[in-house]
Amino acid sequence: MVTHVPFAGLLPRGGGRIHVATGFNKWGLTNGVAAALAIAGAIAGEKPKWAERLATHHATLSDAGEAAGANLQVAGHLVGGWARAEFSAAPAEPPAEGAGRVVRSGLSPVAESTVEGVTCRLSAVCTHLGGIVSWNDAEKTWDCPLHGSRFAADGRLLEGPAVADLSDMPDKEKVKT
Ligand code: FES
Repeated sequence: MVTHVPFAGLLPRGGGRIHVATGFNKWGLTNGVAAALAIAGAIAGEKPKWAERLATHHATLSDAGEAAGANLQVAGHLVGGWARAEFSAAPAEPPAEGAGRVVRSGLSPVAESTVEGVTCRLSAVCTHLGGIVSWNDAEKTWDCPLHGSRFAADGRLLEGPAVADLSDMPDKEKVKT
């Protein structure tokens, strides 16, 4: 089974002098501190016993299979999102208050939403690695199913791994209804 445990230890082929910490999976606030304690302890020769787990990685064949399965799931979201957008022509009227939808405009997937009377038309392509965002009714946000980036209704980046906002569509952007 893939351990889902972050890694904090010596970089393989790093000559025993380079330490790395990675795989926090959005838990950097706590795992980053744990990794810092583990690495500082290793350098000082007082590595905490619990830190051993962070420095071991035993990848097996079934690990590889599980990881491949997870990657296939991500790939499925990617293809499915683009396919759904491809076949959804935009209705003439804007989305109802609080609603969002992904439609096609020419060849471009467009994220349309109406929140507090403002209708926004944005590129539905996530600025991280090209996933198609989907509307989150509860939060009134655009969420990317691939790696979890989130954007406000007006495209502002709320949460990475993406580092840039969704881009406005060139034809029209925000329309007060
Ligand atoms: S492609 Fe959207 S978060 Fe990675």
